Amino acid sequence: MFKRMQSMSMQAVHCFQTVGPNQQNYRAIIAIHNTQLGPALGGCRCLHYAHEQLAFDDAMRLAQGMSYKAALANVPHGGGKAVIILPSQVALKDIDRQFLFSWFGHCVEQLNGQYITAMDVGTQVEDMDVVAKQTCHVASASNIGDPAHSTALGVMAGIQAALDFRFQKQPHSSNVSMKWKRFAVQGLGHVGWRIAERLTELGAHVIAADPDEEKCHQGQALGMQIVPVDEILQQECDVLVPCALGGVIHDENVAQLKCSIIAGSANNQLAHDGIARQLKSRNILYAPDYIINAGGLIFASLCYQGQNNDFYTTPEVIDKKIRQKIEGIYTTLFEVFQQAKSSDRDINDVANELALQRLAGKRQGNNDDENKDKGAVYDAA
Ligand code: NAI
Repeated sequence: MFKRMQSMSMQAVHCFQTVGPNQQNYRAIIAIHNTQLGPALGGCRCLHYAHEQLAFDDAMRLAQGMSYKAALANVPHGGGKAVIILPSQVALKDIDRQFLFSWFGHCVEQLNGQYITAMDVGTQVEDMDVVAKQTCHVASASNIGDPAHSTALGVMAGIQAALDFRFQKQPHSSNVSMKWKRFAVQGLGHVGWRIAERLTELGAHVIAADPDEEKCHQGQALGMQIVPVDEILQQECDVLVPCALGGVIHDENVAQLKCSIIAGSANNQLAHDGIARQLKSRNILYAPDYIINAGGLIFASLCYQGQNNDFYTTPEVIDKKIRQKIEGIYTTLFEVFQQAKSSDRDINDVANELALQRLAGKRQGNNDDENKDKGAVYDAA
């Protein structure tokens, strides 16, 4: 365990256990990767795990990812993640969520603000409301709201950066129009729907897929072309926008892609690091997921700070700051694309290196306030 922590530069891993109603054993892990830039922020997963080790691996890997994401989004947070291990013999519907999340809130409170929790796979706003009764260190209770809108805005900024880089090479000089461009959107959920709807409004040709027929009908009514879920990745398009699952681009399908750019919200889109190199050799521009989908983190971070009166006073001020930081996703991505091209390296390598530089507190180049808010890569917060 300590070896693994060391190899990932993990700061701390906290373990909690309790016995709940009906003598059920509950266990929780809170992994804190790095608090160099601020208290660790990251969601809480609540799942059954086949082995305890898988839960530790999940918590640590995700906490590390959050550190990188926060560093490149230029928010004053480190990376953390919580995992609640559900007892294997208890079905999800039989879990006493009131008890469970009350206890989990107490665990978070014990860390004195070093870790701020939020929603993730297997948790909902109602659970976070229960957590909020035990601790103020929670960033997605119902008083804060759904981050999907901010995530979608960030993805739109990232798509613009990728189009500008691919077709024009100069940041923001005059944005490449999305009108008539072809987009293939995988998943019409909270984030994917907002992106597909906006692209349609902008006059783009939107091809979309989702197993949910109702969502497909709604998309069709707006003018989207709906295709079966197993055909969306092979669509001929300018931009493939994965907004459903992780690991969707893998060794078996990378050669079949017919897109020029991949830019979507899904976490861990590439099955493994080698895929980034294959995309590079196929001249497909990939926007690293943890940069382009940081809008939700930016939203959670600033709302949390506003709620706790750290920096900002009114909702309008917070909203403005959120929008500025989300715009920074454009700048950060453009810089990463440029650096990858000039150094002939794959994009993930460059993005990871930048994140590590920020975590190490290195500053490069300009650091005036305006650029700091916009999250430019040369201004490491
Ligand atoms: P969601 O659960 O609302 O939407 C996912 C959609 O994908 C659903 O409509 C589902 O029916 C569809 N789907 C499932 N399998 C599919 C398949 N094989 N082909 C096509 N569609 C399929 O999730 P949400 O919130 O929209 O998130 C989407 C992705 O973005 C997830 O990977 C999530 O982890 C990531 N993300 C979301 C953020 C947020 O603010 N909601 C923030 C950062 C990342």
